[in-house]
Amino acid sequence: MAADVRGRFVTVEGIDGAGKSTHLGAIASHLGRHGAEVVLTREPGGTPLAEAVRELVLHRAMDAMTEALLVFAARRDHLRTCIEPALARGAIVLCDRFTDATFAYQGWGRGVDAEMLEALERAVQASRQPDLTLWFDLPADEAAARRAAARQADRFEAEDATFFHRVRQGYAARADASPGRFERIDATGTPEQVRIRAFDALERRGW
Ligand code: TYD
Repeated sequence: MAADVRGRFVTVEGIDGAGKSTHLGAIASHLGRHGAEVVLTREPGGTPLAEAVRELVLHRAMDAMTEALLVFAARRDHLRTCIEPALARGAIVLCDRFTDATFAYQGWGRGVDAEMLEALERAVQASRQPDLTLWFDLPADEAAARRAAARQADRFEAEDATFFHRVRQGYAARADASPGRFERIDATGTPEQVRIRAFDALERRGW
């Protein structure tokens, strides 16, 4: 069938503890319900090289600019060897975090210059952007309470609520700048309530 071979690119974002990972499987099943190939992947990561970079970024001490350069290096490999080939064969790529996380965490959270991040974004991605971004939004103090009940923290999860407050502001700024791409999902309440909101958002967008 020569029909629509253009793949589609969906990303999922939110501060640590917002609960996005809980809903990824259900979202993947929903996107694939008509038989489309769904590639579920994540950043940093998604390829052997990028997963090795993820280990470094999550667990080794480094400065903020090094962190930003590493996540973009991982992204480059991920785009070239996984995301772009999948989109080219018409798949739906569902990615747990992408460049909005870099602007939110390295930019707003750690203070890396936004213009530098924009330059890296252009160099690494050319014009590639997600078609849809689901942003699971939760106040930083509620996310901290959820994280406290969860497993051992990595370098980001160990940050305090003021850091995550800035990261959340970063996501809000990104959503304001690209309202056509972003769907904000209220992540307060039970997992079931949040799942219903996420599915409503997909429906609103015709997914
Ligand atoms: P996360 O997506 O929360 O995975 P898990 O659910 O397995 O903990 O962890 C990835 C971490 O990486 C998260 O704390 C945010 C951080 N991160 C950045 O700081 N910059 C980026 O560009 C990306 C993609 C992630």
